[in-house]
Amino acid sequence: MTTDRVLGPDGALPEGEAKHRAVQAMFDRLAPGYERMNRVISLGQDRRWRRHAVESLGLPLGSLVLDLACGTADLCRDLEGYGYRAVGLDFSEGMLRCARTAAPLVRGDAAGMPFPDGSIDGVLCGFALRNFVDLPVVLGECARVLRPGGRLAALDAAVPEPRIMRVGNAVWFRGAVPLIGRALAGDRDAYSYLPRSTAYLPGPAVLLQAMHDAGFGGSDRRTFTGGSVQLLTGTRV
Ligand SMILES: C[S@@+](CC[C@H](N)C(=O)[O-])C[C@H]1O[C@@H](n2cnc3c(N)ncnc32)[C@H](O)[C@@H]1O
Repeated sequence: MTTDRVLGPDGALPEGEAKHRAVQAMFDRLAPGYERMNRVISLGQDRRWRRHAVESLGLPLGSLVLDLACGTADLCRDLEGYGYRAVGLDFSEGMLRCARTAAPLVRGDAAGMPFPDGSIDGVLCGFALRNFVDLPVVLGECARVLRPGGRLAALDAAVPEPRIMRVGNAVWFRGAVPLIGRALAGDRDAYSYLPRSTAYLPGPAVLLQAMHDAGFGGSDRRTFTGGSVQLLTGTRV
């Protein structure tokens, strides 16, 4: 079992520079078993959520799409399967080393991407919004690198609204997932952080306003699996 911890001794979520360092170190060490754990903790549902996210881009075949915070490049593979050209960016060397894709991968920070203004047709981001230290800055970067008319699609965890779903979600993600994380990945701390980190995300209205403020029009939010996953989409104006 690892001795590195992302949560504070009192279970507190890190902020600022401490969050940046802790999240990067956590994904470096989770990388080898990361995809298998995704299938297990989503009960195989994440494949479907990812397909919806790729389809929501609605761009012409051959468009260049950035898989932002690509991790092991799961979404790069989906993008290429749909006929897009993919490029991945992530700040975790461990995740990039475990990536399985023919797409070019860049090590970098979402808060300052090494791409020229307006050079990309679409940005797809899977389960990373809550890991960013400053979400408005990252949304601003997405708007900067996208051409006018370019599309943003961001998939992430959410807190379901119906009470019965909220309870079920808490039992699974806060109760069972940390135990599964300890058993399969030897890392209960990381698999406690992942569900708890949903608390970093503001509510739907604030998220949609942040997209608008960053320069996205027609922003929309859909949910899946009883509201436990959300897909935010918008078009660069
Ligand atoms: C939950 S994983 C998601 C990986 C992948 N997108 C997927 O759908 O499986 C979150 C990813 O965000 C990356 N990440 C977090 N903050 C980042 C940042 N500021 N810049 C680049 N990557 C970041 C992590 O390294 C990690 O690979």
